[in-house]
Amino acid sequence: MLSIAPIIIIALVSVYIFRNVKTYLELRDFGGPWSAGWTRLWLLRCHLSGSIHTKFTEINNKHGSTARVAPKMLVTSDHELVRRMNAIRSPFTRGPWYTCLKLHPESENIACYTDEDKHNDMRSRMSHGYSGKENVHLEQDIDDLIIQMLDLIEKEYVAKPENGLFRRMDLAKVTSYFTLDIISKVAFGEPFGFLAANDDPFGYAANLKQILPAIGWFGVYHELTNILRIPFIKSSLPSSMDKRGLGRVMGFARERILERFGDEAIVRQDMLNSFIKNGLTQLELEGETMLQISAGSDSTASALRIITHFISTSPPILERLLTEVDEAIVAGRISRPVIKNSEALQLPYLQACIKEGLRVYPPITGMLAKMVPKGGAKIDVDGVEKYAPSGTQIAWNSWGLMRNTEIFGPDADIFRPERWLASDNIVEMREHRLKMEETLSLVFGYGRFGCLGKMVANMELNKALIEVCVNAFAVENAAD
Ligand code: HEM
Repeated sequence: MLSIAPIIIIALVSVYIFRNVKTYLELRDFGGPWSAGWTRLWLLRCHLSGSIHTKFTEINNKHGSTARVAPKMLVTSDHELVRRMNAIRSPFTRGPWYTCLKLHPESENIACYTDEDKHNDMRSRMSHGYSGKENVHLEQDIDDLIIQMLDLIEKEYVAKPENGLFRRMDLAKVTSYFTLDIISKVAFGEPFGFLAANDDPFGYAANLKQILPAIGWFGVYHELTNILRIPFIKSSLPSSMDKRGLGRVMGFARERILERFGDEAIVRQDMLNSFIKNGLTQLELEGETMLQISAGSDSTASALRIITHFISTSPPILERLLTEVDEAIVAGRISRPVIKNSEALQLPYLQACIKEGLRVYPPITGMLAKMVPKGGAKIDVDGVEKYAPSGTQIAWNSWGLMRNTEIFGPDADIFRPERWLASDNIVEMREHRLKMEETLSLVFGYGRFGCLGKMVANMELNKALIEVCVNAFAVENAAD
């Protein structure tokens, strides 16, 4: 009797080939690496290389402003398409890519919900806490930690040539300690203590480095997130009972949350209080604090690092900024001991430096892939209309968006804050600047998916950069 096994194998292989060919043909109009049309391995390699931003930009420059990077996955550097997908009434939704942002084994968070209603509901309940309206200590909390960071720099890192003392500071570490302490202070009222220890007291950074590649895997092979439900794998994930690493950070956040419940509950008008007031459960709060810690710290630290790096290594830029700061101090437009956010917003060169830093090194380069709705979508690729079927995911290429030479000029790869200072008296220059501003604003996302922590991030950058200039670069009148 003929064995049935070969028939089953042939049938399965045929179905597999048929499905792959169908998927390949569906996006055949879009350019991209050939292998990326057949397998997700190209995208995985790209993710794990740590150079996803430059690889995506090469792809968009070579194969068009929207190109294929995996079966059913496109990437775009077209600002109009990004705005269209994120707009309030857009039929595009979050793609399955977002499931990789679930950071807590038990609880989801606002950044990973793919259910639109749930996401909208959480966003409306959480926006007051993020906006500062229900977070009255926000500015003072940031000021306190700026003073602590400056003390640390003064004590541990300022050179004393007269004593033959020259010291090096790891900007990456200090900026991370600063933003991690800020996020824990503004989110749940107590800094983790990174600045006080001038160290990573929980082993958080090292653990995060180990875990980050997993996010790459889960973003590309989103089906893998299901294995996290298997009991023995689940039990090996970070837990709030851990003594070190991400788990210890979860534990710290959990302790702060528990302090807000019960008979002797702490009451403090901050983000946590606002979320509780708006009905978030204890478990939801745990998921959200994990997101705040990861979304809110590394992004802002990365911006702070890059802007400080460019300012301090470009003498003409540093000099112009110091002159602006010096004049403002003399005119009494910079409060002591820490500049007010409203005052920093009135310093045009500072604002130009911040915009330029966020532009040349956008802190978020993850894919943030949105999904084409039922019925598919027509996509304009450099003047040619192409069709993407329903279920296709479209990732953003933030690096490519921010280095578009048509928008930012032929020197888009260069850090040049002056590009933001064009005279508003000349109509074309004003229009050009507005176009740049519109595109830059996408660095914080847009519309119904826009960053909720934008105001907090900007406040940190405004204050920290000025105070580092005043203190570390010793502006003349600072001591007065
Ligand atoms: C320079 C710093 C920052 C940048 C560039 C940035 C950028 C972004 C981007 C691009 C998104 C995703 C938009 C999307 O899904 O399409 C996002 C989401 C988010 N960010 Fe930020 N972010 C920064 C700082 C912060 C801070 C400090 C916080 C917390 C205080 C924060 C909280 C959030 C939250 C909660 C979301 C999810 C919003 C939602 O799902 O509706 N971010 N951010």
